[in-house]
Amino acid sequence: MTTPRPLIAGNWKMNGLEVALDEARAVAAAVDAQPPAARVALCPPATLVHRMAQALVGGGVAVGGQDCRAEASGAFTGDVSAEMLADCGATLVILGHSERRAGYDETDALVAAKTLAALRAGLEPIICVGETLAEREAARTLEIVTGQVRGSLPPELAGKAFAVAYEPVWAIGTGLTPTLAQIEEVHVAIRAVLVERFGAEGAGVPILYGGSVKPSNAAEILAVKDVGGALVGGASLKAEDFLGIIARA
Ligand code: 13P
Repeated sequence: MTTPRPLIAGNWKMNGLEVALDEARAVAAAVDAQPPAARVALCPPATLVHRMAQALVGGGVAVGGQDCRAEASGAFTGDVSAEMLADCGATLVILGHSERRAGYDETDALVAAKTLAALRAGLEPIICVGETLAEREAARTLEIVTGQVRGSLPPELAGKAFAVAYEPVWAIGTGLTPTLAQIEEVHVAIRAVLVERFGAEGAGVPILYGGSVKPSNAAEILAVKDVGGALVGGASLKAEDFLGIIARA
């Protein structure tokens, strides 16, 4: 089976007003001028999804959401459905980010339901997993992460495009990263669950690493076995930094 192109996705989190679209345009201009080895996506806040998709239409940078409601529509004040994201021009969606698991009590079952919603709307889900520092210190990392993968990935993903993102909670926004051996250990464990669940197809699912990825550490992280891309937070907000990571894929 051929190895799929790595995926470098930027998660802007709750950052970005209209002026920030200039950064997205700069990323797209560089990507379109010299197509990189990796697929590239930007996931802005919901308020910018439509405008970013319009600004980047037809180019090599895909646009994604950062979350969606499981239901397609209804009385859910403040929420956004997968169908709404697709309607705005998104083609991907991040689901189960640790900031949502922690801040909104999102369970594996809810993440699985949101994943089904993404598939229903034709979006490619990027499903996030990762241990806290306390879990790592208690030597529970593999148990926690493989449990999240088993619980958050519904069997309906078979035959569909999707990615898993391993983001150790303690590495997000801290400047800390696991050692390359620690990253490999977790990615290999995730790969084993994907193969167990999806057979040969599971061998080709991109497993992104996320947590303090920057241009200076991207090359070594992206070279680790079973790392199929990166989910980038802070360093995706500036075109120069994000392009520096994309160039190393
Ligand atoms: P940072 O790259 O800012 O550490 O954030 C990682 C992340 O949470 C991406 O989803």
